[in-house]
Amino acid sequence: MGRFVVCDHPLIQHKVTFLRDKNTDTKQFRELVDELSTLMAYEVTRDIPLETVTVETPVSEAEGRVIAGRMLGLIPILRAGLGMVDGMLKLLPSAKVGHIGLYRDPETLKPVEYYFSLPSDVTERELIVLDPMLATGGSANAAIESLKQRNCRPTKLVCLIAAPEGVKAVQEAHPDIDIYVAALDKYLNDHGYIVPGLGDAGDRLYGTK
Ligand code: PRP
Ligand code: URA
Repeated sequence: MGRFVVCDHPLIQHKVTFLRDKNTDTKQFRELVDELSTLMAYEVTRDIPLETVTVETPVSEAEGRVIAGRMLGLIPILRAGLGMVDGMLKLLPSAKVGHIGLYRDPETLKPVEYYFSLPSDVTERELIVLDPMLATGGSANAAIESLKQRNCRPTKLVCLIAAPEGVKAVQEAHPDIDIYVAALDKYLNDHGYIVPGLGDAGDRLYGTK
């Protein structure tokens, strides 16, 4: 079974609290998603392999460790996942970015794919799927499945707020995927919204309704 990690660093908890607040406006919401994504990137890359190199300091030789040529790709699920890309790229500037367009049908809550675009060398990269919300898990599972069908290597799913139902659904469908969240909430309501959650992440990011 892949790892399930709640990244509960005090800075993350602080920012998630303001993200949830209905009085947080679009500008602040976008900034918070960006900052949280950078903090999550730090947690998500803890297991990146390093290699030993030697450098010359002004005083002597020094042995140091650097990232071992890892090739990463970020795959935001549109729309809301887009809000996480820049924050992640601050710490992972060499990552390439692909996009999967999915929306949740409001009646069935099933994901509908409307866009798919990946970098040309995507099969050589380890892929991190981004979506602020993991509710039923339908969108994340569909994105991971689409990537696997195209011989890609998704390894991690990074979300800001998750419902237990969504975590379970992804763990059952894709036990090889590590899941990182900033907060694990209580449950899904009858409309498939996370409680307490933050409402509709896409609408709050882009000021739509
Ligand atoms: C939201 C969210 C996830 C999905 C989560 O997207 O960003 O992609 O719902 O729900 P699930 O786990 O039940 O699939 P939405 O469908 O509202 O599209 P949007 O990002 O374009 O607003
Ligand atoms: N998508 C959202 O944006 N919010 C939820 O609570 C559930 C799905």
